[in-house]
Amino acid sequence: MRIVAHKSAGLAAQNFMISMAAINYDTCPMEGSDTILIKKILDLPIGAEINMVIGCGVRDEKGIYAPQFRIPFEEVYFEI
Ligand SMILES: Cc1cc2nc3c(=O)[nH]c(=O)nc-3n(C[C@H](O)[C@H](O)[C@H](O)COP(=O)(O)O)c2cc1C
Repeated sequence: MRIVAHKSAGLAAQNFMISMAAINYDTCPMEGSDTILIKKILDLPIGAEINMVIGCGVRDEKGIYAPQFRIPFEEVYFEI
């Protein structure tokens, strides 16, 4: 059930991020957060599991700190 819940939360997160993009917001999913602190802030039980944290906002064109790396689409997408 834990795995099913995390899969579903991941898909819901993806829908959320696509929806945000549709209204011109950017998002950034992140791992490695202080989950204990997040649970305290959100008043969640200590046994709750954080699937991911998603930063949301309006992009600043000067906000990219390093060159972005993109694997060519044709290297990762195959029609079978
Ligand atoms: C579930 C999930 C967790 C992520 N966690 C991190 C993270 O902790 N640190 C990080 O740099 N990128 C993380 N990423 C990737 C970033 O959200 C982002 O897509 C990546 O840094 C590429 O950024 P760019 O699109 O500006 O090149 C995560 C992505 C996903 C889907």
